[in-house]
Amino acid sequence: MGEFDGIKEREEGKNKMPLGMAVLFMVLILFGLIYLYRYMPQTTGWTQAGQYERKMELHKKAVITHEVKEVASGASEGGKADKGPDIYKSDCAMCHGENLEGGIGPALTGPKFIYGSTLADHVRVVTDGTQNGMPGFGKQLGAEKVRAVAHYVFFRHTK
Ligand code: HEC
Repeated sequence: MGEFDGIKEREEGKNKMPLGMAVLFMVLILFGLIYLYRYMPQTTGWTQAGQYERKMELHKKAVITHEVKEVASGASEGGKADKGPDIYKSDCAMCHGENLEGGIGPALTGPKFIYGSTLADHVRVVTDGTQNGMPGFGKQLGAEKVRAVAHYVFFRHTK
């Protein structure tokens, strides 16, 4: 061994792998396997989209908690939210029901909303309307009243 046609095997080639290197090598393989297992949708169901969804869910909860506090303390709109019920009765009740139970339009009692359940979502929908039958009230009511009635809707399904 060691020589063929004058070509010599280098002695260093026979050296054993240093122990530290061998350990590192095994640990990396193990890490790789565990990593593959944990983050493959086929095994644990982990997906990037899922992670995004969870983060958005948490964020929404935080926004809602913040808004509920704001509305409850009256910090955001002063007394204007009080006009909400009146505006609702005159402009919204014929489609969404006296008690937000729904009618021509969907129920506004939650917890599921097509266009989102935050105060900002309601303001947006009420201001601009939607393609499927919700009229926009931005022009008719103006920003202040839209916020008041959005507050009312928001308050009804969060309190
Ligand atoms: C002419 C009937 C009508 C009137 C009046 C009306 N809505 Fe609607 N509203 C609808 C319909 C229909 C939808 C569903 C729209 C869709 O699916 O795109 C809707 C949707 C909504 C949504 C979104 C619900 C969701 O699930 O995301 C909110 C919030 C809402 N309306 C609030 C109001 C408020 C507040 C008023 C009064 C200022 C009002 N609406 C007046 C018909 C009406």
